[in-house]
Amino acid sequence: MIDLRSDTVTRPTPEMLKAMTEAEVGDDVFSEDPTVNSFEKKMAEMFGMETGLFVPSGTMSNQLCLAVLTQPGDEVIIDELGHVFNYESGAAAHLSSVQLRPLRGVRGKLNRELAESAIRPKNDWDPHTRVIAVENTTNKGGGACYSKEELIELSNLADEHGIFLHLDGARIWNAIVKTEIEPEFFGSIADTISICFSKGLGAPVGSMMLASKDHIKKARRFRKMWGGGMRQVGLLAAAADYAVQNHLSLLKSDHRRARRLAEAIAENPVFEIDLSTIETNIILFNVKNGTAEEALKKFTEAGVGMVPFGPKTIRATFHFQVGDEDLEKIIKVIGDFA
Ligand SMILES: Cc1ncc(COP(=O)(O)O)c(C=O)c1O
Repeated sequence: MIDLRSDTVTRPTPEMLKAMTEAEVGDDVFSEDPTVNSFEKKMAEMFGMETGLFVPSGTMSNQLCLAVLTQPGDEVIIDELGHVFNYESGAAAHLSSVQLRPLRGVRGKLNRELAESAIRPKNDWDPHTRVIAVENTTNKGGGACYSKEELIELSNLADEHGIFLHLDGARIWNAIVKTEIEPEFFGSIADTISICFSKGLGAPVGSMMLASKDHIKKARRFRKMWGGGMRQVGLLAAAADYAVQNHLSLLKSDHRRARRLAEAIAENPVFEIDLSTIETNIILFNVKNGTAEEALKKFTEAGVGMVPFGPKTIRATFHFQVGDEDLEKIIKVIGDFA
């Protein structure tokens, strides 16, 4: 099957496996894994943050960020399409006892006016607004990127109100490649950042929380408490480091292929797609007749995997293990689809 269900489905390449086997390792719970330590330092420098913490997943990384930024009873402003709101099993309520305030932005993106309208007055009965959480690129929003200006406005808003800005950068790499915004800019606007190596970059496992030393000190304890303290995990950090060094440059082709497929989808009248929404590696499109589930069954039979993103909406996500030959086959399936 040509697998466009997610960019998380990639398998490690032989070169990545080689880098893993050659990694120098130690016990990371004792902060003694040299590969993890140097990778955390490298990523923190890259994103202009004080320090980093290598963790198993993007979910853990997002949740650690919220845990260190908030007190029980606080409120976190987020777009209603946000991963933290939709796909983290209610973790913010369970782990940090905070409530999320979902807002209807545009393609998963908040803007200053919208976020400002949700900041609560300070009194004894409103929850305390503590964090604005943004996602870049947006997943459920279809791979949309924030501009520098949009992020600066949200960061200024957070500063003006003495609250924090959290950036879920699971696909920040796609945003960097698309917008050419330098990574250290994100450190200048956010208090905490979560980045993932296991999405389009193609590492088998691994995310990183980036923040101040104080926040990471607290997060280390939560990570251990939540069962995420890992031992000779330099093996995985080596895979992630390999992915940053060797796969970042491949994302541009993912974006090109996504656009090419979107154009083919636009040519078949059984589908609906807004080409202006195709920015990175994620495509959202609708079926005009029938349901997404029915269409997906036909796609599976034709050897193409995608996922439903609503009753009539389908998501296709490109990654480096779907190449140009595969793309041509998918375009044929799209062209023949009736
Ligand atoms: C935007 C976003 N944030 C966070 C995550 C969570 O990552 P993980 O699956 O590693 O927990 C994902 C997963 O796809 C995501 O798309």
